[in-house]
Amino acid sequence: MSEWLFRDTVIQADKRAVRDIVRSTGFFSAEEIDVAEELVCEHLQKGTASGYLFVFAQSPDGQVPGYACYGPVPCTARSFDLYWIAVHAGGRGRGLGKALMHEVERRLRASGGGKLIAETSSREQYAPTQAFYRSCGFIEEARIRDYYAPGEDILYFTKSLG
Ligand SMILES: CC(C)(COP(=O)(O)OP(=O)(O)OC[C@H]1O[C@@H](n2cnc3c(N)ncnc32)[C@H](O)[C@@H]1OP(=O)(O)O)[C@@H](O)C(=O)NCCC(=O)NCCS
Repeated sequence: MSEWLFRDTVIQADKRAVRDIVRSTGFFSAEEIDVAEELVCEHLQKGTASGYLFVFAQSPDGQVPGYACYGPVPCTARSFDLYWIAVHAGGRGRGLGKALMHEVERRLRASGGGKLIAETSSREQYAPTQAFYRSCGFIEEARIRDYYAPGEDILYFTKSLG
């Protein structure tokens, strides 16, 4: 049995949990950490109408070691952006990232499938993130060269959900 429970309801305490998780990764700027928390606030205010849907992992002791945030791309039939997926630095490499992705995919399949899109940078720092998406069955479908800066491309990883 999984050591985590997964929930898609969002509670006030998730604002703090998301900050802690995202900060712990060492990947994101202060501004990006604020944005991650703002998406939780948006959901708390507007619910699913915010366009930001969540899956939180919860340990038996009530800790939240990881989460994913995704939502429909406006003006598409069934394309979804994966905005964030992050596991607390202390809990990585134990299958939680993959389990969170599975939970996102399960929810999308149950509501009719579609295409899930994850963006990342070509920078060497993001090689583990790219490896993670590949291992979850995503393919690198598109790339815009020099998007973030000269020599730093944006990569679009996608997965079709039947
Ligand atoms: C990416 C991330 C969510 C993965 O979570 P995780 O719990 O460590 O990953 P898992 O243990 O579920 O690993 C799943 C697969 O990804 C691969 N993977 C994970 N981290 C990796 C790394 N550092 N290097 C290479 N492969 C890696 C694993 O090999 C594994 O593949 P396998 O099942 O075929 O063995 C996590 O490392 C993280 O929070 N990273 C920083 C934030 C980030 O980059 N988020 C994505 C953009 S928003």
